[in-house]
Amino acid sequence: MTLTQPAAGIPVRTATARTVLMCRPEHFTVSYRINPWMHPEAPTDTSLALRQWEVLYRTYLDLGFDVHLVDPIAGLPDMVYAANGGYVLDGVAYGARFQFDERGPEGPAYMDWFRADGFEVREPVSTNEGEGDFLLVGETIYAGTGFRSDAASHDELRRIYGREVVTLKLVDPSFYHLDTAFAVLDSRGGPDSVAYLPKAFDDASRAILEERFPQAIHVNDEDAAVLGLNSFSDGRNVVIAARAVDFERQLRERGFTPIGVDLSELLLGGGGVKCCTLELRR
Ligand code: ARG
Repeated sequence: MTLTQPAAGIPVRTATARTVLMCRPEHFTVSYRINPWMHPEAPTDTSLALRQWEVLYRTYLDLGFDVHLVDPIAGLPDMVYAANGGYVLDGVAYGARFQFDERGPEGPAYMDWFRADGFEVREPVSTNEGEGDFLLVGETIYAGTGFRSDAASHDELRRIYGREVVTLKLVDPSFYHLDTAFAVLDSRGGPDSVAYLPKAFDDASRAILEERFPQAIHVNDEDAAVLGLNSFSDGRNVVIAARAVDFERQLRERGFTPIGVDLSELLLGGGGVKCCTLELRR
């Protein structure tokens, strides 16, 4: 047996290179407070944010991803969190409509980018924060609500994509977007294809998750508190917060290859790896 052979019982995972959209944090700072992580009175270091973000960007390139960039706009410090810029599936981009005015102009800015890149854009009617709250597993879109995206946006998703949409209710203000409490490890689906933080969901949503993902990873509070779940997977390689050490071990035990990155500066805005990443699906 060679060292590259997987140990007995550990599944073999398959990587599929992704196409993603990112936004350089040139104007990143924390100047307002729209989630419990943000403390405008504390200083931020934009050049450190840029260096840390650059590592994530290089990591994706090294994984063979096709990484697109949208120009950052001065005065929109949260634009780096590209996941909130919309939801893109089947070549159709459902635009974002932000809950807070501070981020409002990001919606049209991202829609302009989608149009210019050849996506069909659907203007949003309901409040929704894009892939921050909508995550595809198999043929089902799991959609968060409770803090940001309105449940009515889930109906819009159903109408636009003709897919099953499962509403999940978030109850802990620190985990205000679905992608802070739920990670897709294998977008093809299956009983062990996700990880989540059980206490971030209401009872009904937790029951749905237990039924659909009986072998999911449940992360601990420490890993959740560094936004460990806010990760991005190609099906085998899972880019995670370097500080989420237990999650890293859980991933290895299940045959995934965790890749830790340090986005401590962007954590000051309440975001991590996934927040900086919007998947583009033609
Ligand atoms: N400061 C941003 C906000 O509160 C962070 C967004 C994080 N994005 C995410 N996909 N979870 O809106």
